[in-house]
Amino acid sequence: MTMLFDAAKAARAQAYAPYSNFAVGAAIETATGAVFSGCNVENVAYPQGTCAEAGAIAAMVAAGERQITQVLVMAVSPQPVTPCGGCRQKLAEFSSPDTVVILADLNGERRRMTMAELLPYAFDQAQLDNNS
Ligand code: THU
Repeated sequence: MTMLFDAAKAARAQAYAPYSNFAVGAAIETATGAVFSGCNVENVAYPQGTCAEAGAIAAMVAAGERQITQVLVMAVSPQPVTPCGGCRQKLAEFSSPDTVVILADLNGERRRMTMAELLPYAFDQAQLDNNS
């Protein structure tokens, strides 16, 4: 947890969020024990902004890794901040149902759940295979 927490915090400190002023950091641990992090990067053309989770996933894939064992998302809000719908699907692509999802703020962990709990009824390969 500590390595993920520190990585997400450092990434969040670099967030580029001048439009929402909502900084997010994410850190992923993979099956090999490697850690990858990302922050949100907004754009004046609002839909072009990217979430922290997407940045961390891109760094992971670019390093040749594919299996997420844990992900920690850090933001400061009254309620624990969960990954947006799109990021849930992005994370699911490289996760198993028991991948651990940790929601944190600057002080530490606030909630913990599995990927299956975060994204029940995920669209997956099995559904694609049944296309006819
Ligand atoms: N955001 C993330 O980076 N990850 C999330 O899980 C929730 C939302 C970003 C997107 C946008 O830059 C800002 O937070 C406000 O929505």
